Amino acid sequence: MSVTCLRVRAVCRAVNYGRCFSRTSAVNMSAKVGDSLPSVDLFENDPGTKVNTAEAFASGKHIIFGVPGAFTPGCSKTHLPGYIEDFSKLEAKGVKSVNCVSVNDPFVMQAWGENQGAAGKVRMLADTCGAFTSQLGLDLPAVKDVLGNVRCKRFAMVVNDGKIEKLNVEPDGTGLTCSLSTSLCDEL
Ligand code: BEZ
Repeated sequence: MSVTCLRVRAVCRAVNYGRCFSRTSAVNMSAKVGDSLPSVDLFENDPGTKVNTAEAFASGKHIIFGVPGAFTPGCSKTHLPGYIEDFSKLEAKGVKSVNCVSVNDPFVMQAWGENQGAAGKVRMLADTCGAFTSQLGLDLPAVKDVLGNVRCKRFAMVVNDGKIEKLNVEPDGTGLTCSLSTSLCDEL
């Protein structure tokens, strides 16, 4: 291969690296209190049932909590059951809906909801390709080796009239502290 060819290749690599780098830093900007909720299609029960986040949470107070994965021990034994158990308390504090989001497919989210008795309390929403997670800047690449792909940091947020009013993200991405229903309930 000629020297010119090698130089051209090196320049292309540098340009592509620059693109990747700037894209990554833009994507990784974490959402903050006061931001509008990103408009993303999530899926409920099956891939044909879209729930657009901007439309579904445009008015009133809603809770959205994110988990690293359906059926994982922390999410199944503590995080989701806590919100199911506290649903009436949250409702009494003016919360219109409680929503669980995970980077999983809609069938898995539906089965997990059934398994946990979530019906009528917590809506199980699939962020199938991780678009919602990524737009919030809450990607969790650290679990890739265990769960197979980039997932979502454990978080809980209050959305009021389409804006993020509270955002509690677990500092290590997977812990069970500030994102639990008990913590959020106290702050409402
Ligand atoms: C959990 O139990 O919640 C969990 C397990 C593996 C990776 C991330 C979370």
